[in-house]
Amino acid sequence: MSTITEPVFQMEAGSGPSEFLFGSTPVMLDLKKKIALVSNTDVPVLITGESGTGKESLAIEIHRSSRRGPNPFVKVNCAAIPGALMESELFGFERGAFTGAVQRRIGKFEQATTGTIFLDEIADLDLALQAKLLHVLQDGNLSMIGASEEVMLDTRVICATNRDIPSAVQGGQFRQDLFYRINVIHVNLPALRQRRADLPELVDHFLAHYTKLFGRPVAKPSAALVELFGSYHWPGNIRELENTLKQLVILQNEGELIRTLEARLKEEMARIVDPDGTVPLKKYVKLAVLKVEKELILKVLRHNRWNRKKSARMLRISYRALLYKLKECGLDQRETAVLSERAE
Ligand SMILES: Nc1ncnc2c1ncn2[C@@H]1O[C@H](COP(=O)(O)OP(=O)(O)OP(=O)(O)O)[C@@H](O)[C@H]1O
Ligand SMILES: [Mg+2]
Repeated sequence: MSTITEPVFQMEAGSGPSEFLFGSTPVMLDLKKKIALVSNTDVPVLITGESGTGKESLAIEIHRSSRRGPNPFVKVNCAAIPGALMESELFGFERGAFTGAVQRRIGKFEQATTGTIFLDEIADLDLALQAKLLHVLQDGNLSMIGASEEVMLDTRVICATNRDIPSAVQGGQFRQDLFYRINVIHVNLPALRQRRADLPELVDHFLAHYTKLFGRPVAKPSAALVELFGSYHWPGNIRELENTLKQLVILQNEGELIRTLEARLKEEMARIVDPDGTVPLKKYVKLAVLKVEKELILKVLRHNRWNRKKSARMLRISYRALLYKLKECGLDQRETAVLSERAE
């Protein structure tokens, strides 16, 4: 039977030293230990973290350092492909399964047999497909669209997302049972600003890498630039740092880079400085407390199906205090009142 398969990113057997830098901050050293323990098992891993923190790089590292390392590593971006197409993408189809299925085609799961499938942006997977994926993970076998037989699954599953799946579960956009299936081991990658002590190692690594790649030696970063690197908040995390250093090697423009980073730092300050030039700590603490209160109250209200009396008891505050807080948090009084009446 003829099959069409797309080229699969295949890791080299026993590929050389790892490109994934763990650094030496306590949080990353703990993560390194955890990865060493889970790599050689087949349990699903869920990697979370802000954009650019290295979720995909870590998935490759887990695969590379496992016994599956020499076998295929297949990536699927769950956000990029619309629901209907995604099913055939993941599970494949038999010839004649639907109009246009002129040839049998195996899916990404089968392409990753003996290796690892990396389901990126898993929180964006269509709800109908979440049900199908759950069955596949539960039963350990899958069938192509239009096929009568099932195939045994021998694929390790690693998922990643930068979204908060528990909130998506609460909001009904993600199946709780699937969340439990994929979240056997959870790894959260910290933002770069939470592990600034790793900056020198990362900077040296990327400078050496791009100097070699572009054949352009670059002067050691000045003390002023190193200091700026340390105080900048790196919203784009390691990807932003890597791109910054790549640019530095290509353009050799340290002066310009210093000016850009200084401008970004000023912008960041401009957002928090009051017109009188102060940063009132009390005001920001109050805003932070309000945010936490709002989240907790919403969670409890949802849990109690918007019953405000029951929620007040659970929050250990008076009913009047809850009404006051709802107003203070800017929660729509009328909406919660209507829902509450229905619930009471
Ligand atoms: N620990 C690391 N060691 C070395 N390079 C890293 C590390 N983490 C990330 N990188 C580099 O940063 C870039 C971004 O990493 P990656 O694509 O894995 O992030 P991501 O979390 O998947 O981002 P996104 O959420 O935007 O998809 C990669 O090009 C990689 O080279
Ligand atoms: Mg990614």
